Amino acid sequence: MTSELRPLWPALLPAEHHGDDALCAVSAQGVRVRFADGRELLDGSSGLWNTNLGYGNPAVARAAAEALLNASYLSVFRYENTYARLAAAALIEACGPEHYARVLFSTSGGAANDLVMKVARHYHALRGEPRRKVIVGLRGSYHGLTFGGFALTGEDLGQQVYGVDQRLVRHVTPNEPAELATLLVRQGAQTAAVVVEPVLGTGAVPLTEEYVAELLRLRDVHGFLLVADEVATGFGRTGTLFASERWPAPPDLLISSKGLTNGTSAAAVVVASREVAAAFDEAGGVLSHGETQAGTPVTCAAILATLSEMQRLDAVAQGRRLAVRLDEELDEMVAGHPLVSHTEGMGLFRSIRMVTTDGAPFPQTEVPALVGAVRTAGAIVHPGLNGVQLFPALTYAPAELKELLECVRAGLDAYVASGRSGQGRRPHTEARG
Ligand SMILES: Cc1ncc(COP(=O)(O)O)c(C=O)c1O
Repeated sequence: MTSELRPLWPALLPAEHHGDDALCAVSAQGVRVRFADGRELLDGSSGLWNTNLGYGNPAVARAAAEALLNASYLSVFRYENTYARLAAAALIEACGPEHYARVLFSTSGGAANDLVMKVARHYHALRGEPRRKVIVGLRGSYHGLTFGGFALTGEDLGQQVYGVDQRLVRHVTPNEPAELATLLVRQGAQTAAVVVEPVLGTGAVPLTEEYVAELLRLRDVHGFLLVADEVATGFGRTGTLFASERWPAPPDLLISSKGLTNGTSAAAVVVASREVAAAFDEAGGVLSHGETQAGTPVTCAAILATLSEMQRLDAVAQGRRLAVRLDEELDEMVAGHPLVSHTEGMGLFRSIRMVTTDGAPFPQTEVPALVGAVRTAGAIVHPGLNGVQLFPALTYAPAELKELLECVRAGLDAYVASGRSGQGRRPHTEARG
């Protein structure tokens, strides 16, 4: 097919799959997505961590429709709007008003990461430390593909090709406190912020309790702002509304996106602590950041409806119960399937790690074939490190969870039967979107 016949240029999809009806979604309802080739697949990835309450939640859809009819566009750019005020207040209430004070609206996880880098640098400048500009991230992390977020992303996804400027960014190995401590001995006075995913999406690797404790201790010693990028972990994914709720002390800035509107709007927020907000208020600092489409009525109505649906459905507790079942199923798979070596992750944010038939780590180049085999068996799973990742909706019924695991097993069996197992060697990770 020539490019004129394929006007859509999809993100991060190799050219040979452009125009493929099997990958072109048509509609989605509950936990299933229908594709243009006529197949309906069970979604084991919540539409990339977005649809934590499943697709087509009627309350969220109604709230969005009403907002569109009442106020099709209002901004937070040199203005306020009442929808944004209400959504901000509800988010502060949900995150904890004893610590958090203000909400900045953005339109994507990547843009929100750009925003936290600005907030952190501006915060220190207002307090008389304009040289604090270094941002520290974790190796293997993902913070998006905008220029700021891309710079902070700790896996090589072609930053060099695009001239992404990483001169003010440092990366350290996750869960290795000594490495961060050593970096900060040298550069603590220039460090504006340390940005972490509470569970690294690439590989579903949770930060250990020891590492979080050390992050908090080092924050006290060196004075940087600690940022929790909860774009993927937010909205009940790991067993609490936000994963950083379980930290002994909260971060200074918290980023949420994806589950924030149950995936219905291009929405993200940065929630700022009282201390950060006070620094701007006291100095009259005006942050140079604004996005025309941020904090609009439809987005904010969707945020409010998502928060209230989370409560009505007791979705976080539902997710915790589902995670117990998922653990049992995954344990069985580790014990019973020759390809599966172990699992990683927490709550409903899991990675299944695999080995080849000769016991070597499953080659990254074969992961797309594995994901394809599971899709052929009936389910959408996410490519992971040496295997596949599962993050089902919090509202999955137990039978749907069983079906998901059956599809994964069938996919792995079909992959083994195809005789491909063990091919390829090149390590490579996947951008997450
Ligand atoms: C932790 C994290 N941060 C940032 C992003 C980027 O979000 P977006 O694709 O909305 O820019 C992602 C996307 O997967 C993410 O998981």
